[in-house]
Amino acid sequence: MAESLFVPKTADRRVIYDEITPQIAALIEGETDLIANLANITAVLKEAFGFFWVGFYVKKENQLVLSAFQGSIACTRIDFDKGVCGHCYTTRQTVIVPNVEEFDGHIACSSLAKSEIVLPIYSKSGEVFGVLDVDSDKLDDFNETDAEGLGKIVKIVERII
Ligand code: SME
Repeated sequence: MAESLFVPKTADRRVIYDEITPQIAALIEGETDLIANLANITAVLKEAFGFFWVGFYVKKENQLVLSAFQGSIACTRIDFDKGVCGHCYTTRQTVIVPNVEEFDGHIACSSLAKSEIVLPIYSKSGEVFGVLDVDSDKLDDFNETDAEGLGKIVKIVERII
């Protein structure tokens, strides 16, 4: 696996996504342990963008359960009809929330989280395996660039589940 991460010094997120995505693919190559790989992916995203919180929730029985993450402690279980993560799970769509206070049912793990993006991760059978949840301490911090950039990283995850 790769041992160091190169992050270009730019505020242009598209450039950063383009740079780190192949590095993520290289980082997890040859490693079969899912949690180890998910953990390293969250570390890359945290280091590259300084996001407030980055983590995975994985479907287990009838809930989304906290998996690898970087950031402050978070709620461990989310019902499918709760929060932004549950909304992403049930709609099977990427959800961008510019202001979490305006999202009905948002689960506030930290009062510092202001905006977020959550992407579904599909298993090979087409079911939602889990979600990638990224939170920011800034309002309106996510847009289509993030949906696209994180979407490519989710595709890498989908290859190893
Ligand atoms: N924001 C999520 C809850 C998880 S924490 O933010 C880490 C939600 O409302 O689904």
